[in-house]
Amino acid sequence: MTRRTALAGALAATFPARNADEEEPGLREYAARAGLLYGAAAAWPVLRDDESYARAFAQECSILVPENVLKMGPVQPEPGAFRFEPADFMAEFCRRHDMRMRGHTLLWHQQAWPWLKTIADAQEARKRLEEHILTVAGRYRGSMHSWDVVNEAVHVPDGRQDGLRKTPFLELLGSDYVELAFRIAHDADPQAKLTYNDYGLDYDTPGQESKRQAVLRLLRHLKEREVPIHAFGMQAHLDWAEFRHFNPETLQRFFREIAELGLEIYITELDVSDRDLPDEIAQRDEAIAKVYHTYLTAALAERAVKAVLTWGLTDRYTWLATRRQRPSGTPVRVLPLDRDYRRKPAWQAIRDAFRTAPARDG
Ligand code: G3I
Repeated sequence: MTRRTALAGALAATFPARNADEEEPGLREYAARAGLLYGAAAAWPVLRDDESYARAFAQECSILVPENVLKMGPVQPEPGAFRFEPADFMAEFCRRHDMRMRGHTLLWHQQAWPWLKTIADAQEARKRLEEHILTVAGRYRGSMHSWDVVNEAVHVPDGRQDGLRKTPFLELLGSDYVELAFRIAHDADPQAKLTYNDYGLDYDTPGQESKRQAVLRLLRHLKEREVPIHAFGMQAHLDWAEFRHFNPETLQRFFREIAELGLEIYITELDVSDRDLPDEIAQRDEAIAKVYHTYLTAALAERAVKAVLTWGLTDRYTWLATRRQRPSGTPVRVLPLDRDYRRKPAWQAIRDAFRTAPARDG
């Protein structure tokens, strides 16, 4: 069977954007009313193999981001050998269901090329990076809403004045590697909104404040150098227990400073860990929903925020199930839909935040 026939078979089902059984429209519709996109990270091969999962994406999302398959290692596991089947499937799924797609991510120190250590010097590193970005971003040229060009490049504890994380890319290419990646990405896909994406910026703590300042310095530096950067991605991996450190004014100040640089803002990886909550489901769901609502209400007050994506859609598939296990071992309840694709209070909280969000131009 050719690759094209295999894909066509798996894509045979096109799901309606609205489930006839559901009285309410999906989050995509509430988001659209406020001029926003709503979406989620999609797992491979789940999107291909689990029909309920695919249907939920079609109903709820107007934008999709592959959770892993476009990262450097998964997409180029050996030098010059690219694996595009999973992302091609997702791109076609988006086309069929009238959804946009985000790319994640062209340069990250995690899940990087497994053969990274074989790169001898700066010249080879530059050649490899050019080939990677031109091939990967070039393949989806014109169809991507946005690309996370560089992910998580700031890490203040590493002690550098510029705030950059010590990674093999920094070592091989020097501190201009961020700028380089954006310039290549712009050549590869001049229409995509090129995004810098990072985490650990949500709370009013000294550590997160110094990271916010370092990120702002990086963004300003890139703008001053006329680097083609169009957006900032706020990952927003939240945690119920840590949320006591949340201060809406701090978040809004940070977003305002980003917006003043002329950048759009996307909430790119929102989820809320329930690790420290009691087992009782109604109580847990209510507490998690409250975090979603409080955070999004504050975030959406800033009109530069144009898209909200959760890092997964259903509690059945979430990185938090293994990375933030509950001490009692009960399954996590951290995303808008439960394990059986039923809408939870977190879903209603996101809907309500979209309902009251000031409308933006789109
Ligand atoms: O690819 C192998 C697969 O071949 C093997 O069968 C399987 C067995 O465990 O492992 C697979 O790789 C795993 C991959 O997820 C796909 O499931 C990796 O070990 C695992 O480390 C990887 O975790 C991902 C993580 O990024 C990598 O650091 C998570 O799914 C993904 O949700 C997470 O996403 C990140 C964002 O990209 C950036 N921001 C933080 C966010 C959460 O950590």
